[in-house]
Amino acid sequence: MKSYKIAVIPGDGSGPEMVREGVKVLKAAAEKFKFRLDFTEFDYGGERYLQKGEVLPEGAIEELKQYQAIFLGAIGHPEVKPGILEKGILLTLRFELDQYINLRPVKLYPGIETPIKDKGPEDIDFVVVRENTEGLYAGSGGFLRKGTPYEVAVQESINTRMGVERCLRYAFEYCRERNRKKKLTLCGKTNVLTYAFDLWERVFHEIGEEYPDIQKDYAHVDAICMWMVKNPEQFDVIVTDNMFGDIITDLGAMIQGGMGIAAGGNINPAGTSMFEPIGGSAPKYAGTNTINPLASICAGGMMLDHLGEKEAALAIEKAVMAVCAKDIRSLSAGKMGHSTEEVGDLVVGHL
Ligand code: IPM
Ligand code: MN
Repeated sequence: MKSYKIAVIPGDGSGPEMVREGVKVLKAAAEKFKFRLDFTEFDYGGERYLQKGEVLPEGAIEELKQYQAIFLGAIGHPEVKPGILEKGILLTLRFELDQYINLRPVKLYPGIETPIKDKGPEDIDFVVVRENTEGLYAGSGGFLRKGTPYEVAVQESINTRMGVERCLRYAFEYCRERNRKKKLTLCGKTNVLTYAFDLWERVFHEIGEEYPDIQKDYAHVDAICMWMVKNPEQFDVIVTDNMFGDIITDLGAMIQGGMGIAAGGNINPAGTSMFEPIGGSAPKYAGTNTINPLASICAGGMMLDHLGEKEAALAIEKAVMAVCAKDIRSLSAGKMGHSTEEVGDLVVGHL
């Protein structure tokens, strides 16, 4: 029997409650499709930081590299200054594990309401491939004369040929394998960011020649925001840099019904990848058994797909779709008509 070592980081706020249901569904899928999942839990997050003053312990990265995948809840604690946990845990893991792709499907399931009038599941089904280790997130820059009236703050977008190329290549390959509209849209801002997106655009067309079967499309990020609302059906796969990808995937999450269902994968195709709900830790719902666990469950499905358990991944998606169509009233916390635990049980039931 195939077996996989999975590191679980429940994290903060509602993270542990969401992850519990995600793990429940993963265990049921493993049993049904005859493979083994060995889960090991790690306590990284706000609580640990407040108690020990440390975000990640020595050797954490090396240890996590021993796992085939990481299943993450959410990071973010109301008593910890913004930036410390995000940079110290989430971004450090993405960077140090070289998870250079952030894969974010935007798919409206039947039965789920989208805020976009007259659009349905047949219109909203695309995937954003977000570069995940460079751009404005690289941490390049600094202050000059901090705290004086002459203060300067610089934050640079780092775009390397290697980083841009491997991201674009992943997007082309993904688009080919997805085999839908076979259209890859580069989301940039070539009219203003004339260095960074010049590089992106050149490499896009250069390696695009190796993918004659893929239609190459380009749109500025502001226009993409407009089209995502007006004509989402025109998209198949969108590839973009780290910052634009961060922004447009929150918009994507909203048009697919909300943070209650939006999941993503931080992918290193040759290393340890990490799967998580896109939303935050929602501390105000922590411990109330009302948060929607479907995003975590979908992240689990993405993890199985990545590990090669395609059949199980598909079964989880189908079960989630059944829950969306038949069982729950809304994706919002407290309005589902079921508790967090019950939604996990419902998914297992459909499996
Ligand atoms: C996301 C989040 C993170 C990001 C934050 C928490 C650092 O918004 O995963 O999209 O900006 O990447
Ligand atoms: Mn974000």
